[in-house]
Amino acid sequence: MALLEILTYPNPLLKSKSEPVHDLDQETLKFIDDLCETMYASPGCVGVAAPQTGVLKRIIVVDASRNAKCELQHGKMILINPVIEWQQGDVMAREGCLSVPHFTGNVKRAKDIRFRAQTLDGKEIQMETSDFEARVILHEADHLDGLLFLDRVSSLKTDIFRRKRYL
Ligand code: NI
Repeated sequence: MALLEILTYPNPLLKSKSEPVHDLDQETLKFIDDLCETMYASPGCVGVAAPQTGVLKRIIVVDASRNAKCELQHGKMILINPVIEWQQGDVMAREGCLSVPHFTGNVKRAKDIRFRAQTLDGKEIQMETSDFEARVILHEADHLDGLLFLDRVSSLKTDIFRRKRYL
């Protein structure tokens, strides 16, 4: 296992669209291990997307249980080719991102989502979740389409904040 380097804004790879994964070969499985290790090595980090490490593949790892305030969550999830199938509601909340280390932002996202994805064993799953965990999945899935939370704030003047503390 190895820690991966996290690319930061404005690296152009963060603006790129990632490609679907068709083959979970040894190299990809090793990469997923490293991606998980990278998430857990970063204090308070609840999700990482492959393109944040310069690998343009549609893979995200999330673990909303790392946020003690998150009530509904499914623990560690490795989601390959995730697709948001349905979403509803509007909730504004503060977000951060390893790729935007010095800022946080107020971002409006759905309260409830249903998504599908492939798992490590090649199975297709469909799940619903809400609130914080839904936000994490939406945030990470955005990375696969080259979007950062900076692209989602309504105003760069009033909805972006310089970090005063780091977890
Ligand atoms: Ni992010």
